[in-house]
Amino acid sequence: MLLREYLARQQQLVDAELGRLVPSEDTPPATIHRAMRYSLFAGGKRIRPILCIEAAHAISGSYDGAIAAACALELIHTYSLIHDDLPALDNDDYRRGKLTNHKVFGDAMAILAGDSLLTLAFQVLAQLDAPDSRKTRMIAELSTAAGTVGGMIGGQVADLEGEGKTPNAQLLETIHRAKTGALIRASLRLGAIYAGASDEQYAALSCYGEHVGLAFQIVDDILDVEESSEALGKTAGKDAQQQKITFPAVYGLDDSRRMADEECQRAHQTLEPFADRAARLHELADMIVHRKS
Ligand code: IPE
Ligand code: IPE
Ligand code: MG
Ligand code: MG
Ligand code: MG
Repeated sequence: MLLREYLARQQQLVDAELGRLVPSEDTPPATIHRAMRYSLFAGGKRIRPILCIEAAHAISGSYDGAIAAACALELIHTYSLIHDDLPALDNDDYRRGKLTNHKVFGDAMAILAGDSLLTLAFQVLAQLDAPDSRKTRMIAELSTAAGTVGGMIGGQVADLEGEGKTPNAQLLETIHRAKTGALIRASLRLGAIYAGASDEQYAALSCYGEHVGLAFQIVDDILDVEESSEALGKTAGKDAQQQKITFPAVYGLDDSRRMADEECQRAHQTLEPFADRAARLHELADMIVHRKS
């Protein structure tokens, strides 16, 4: 199957599972469920759940079962986007090609929709059909990756506090590894834990996750400069406008592109132990670096 078809199929499977996991729009209180579903089904690429499912496949050779754990990652990711777009954070009007959550539902409901997706992610993990020892490790990994110390919230804090400051290479890498890299590495780790990876396999997939995670945010920064708002489905050019610490701001576009390519090459090398079972992970690393949105 071609990568494009494979991605469309995986996205459909993830969307169907998310549809089951999130209460329907008419479940009381209806407003919050409408707000949650509005952002979840606005058309995300579903890269994190797909990475999780492929990590499990690299270990077990099977595509069965990891989908609910994969959806927990998308729930956290979508919550982080809703809050990232709030007027008090990046103040964005568009996301995934539609008005942002707070533009449609108001700030209060957008904050609560983010909170609800975050909470639901851990409910989903707690209710997984998997051994308790694995579920506990997955919950610990996801909460750490979404948290304040080297995790997504820690990165968001440094990103916001960095606005307008003189960019510095070390701070830049710390922000990117935390705000985006940690959740992407957790995507690989959750799949690995679910499928019963050995310590060596877990370490290799973690390393792959670190490289594609950093590459992912470097490319997000490049696209913010190079692409149109229509192509991105979110307002282009915002990083320069808000004086964010980004790869293009520190290194320029050419070196940023070269560094994303280097991370991608390193990601490929980490997959050696998995041979053919990692074929899609190889393709996904290339896709993350060459995507246009
Ligand atoms: C955007 O993530 C936010 C970042 C962490 C850079 P994605 O580019 O994965 O956004 P969606 O899920 O496809 O909308
Ligand atoms: C967001 O980074 C990372 C998150 C944790 C949501 P950005 O602020 O660069 O993401 P976009 O460009 O708005 O999607
Ligand atoms: Mg931001
Ligand atoms: Mg933003
Ligand atoms: Mg960005």
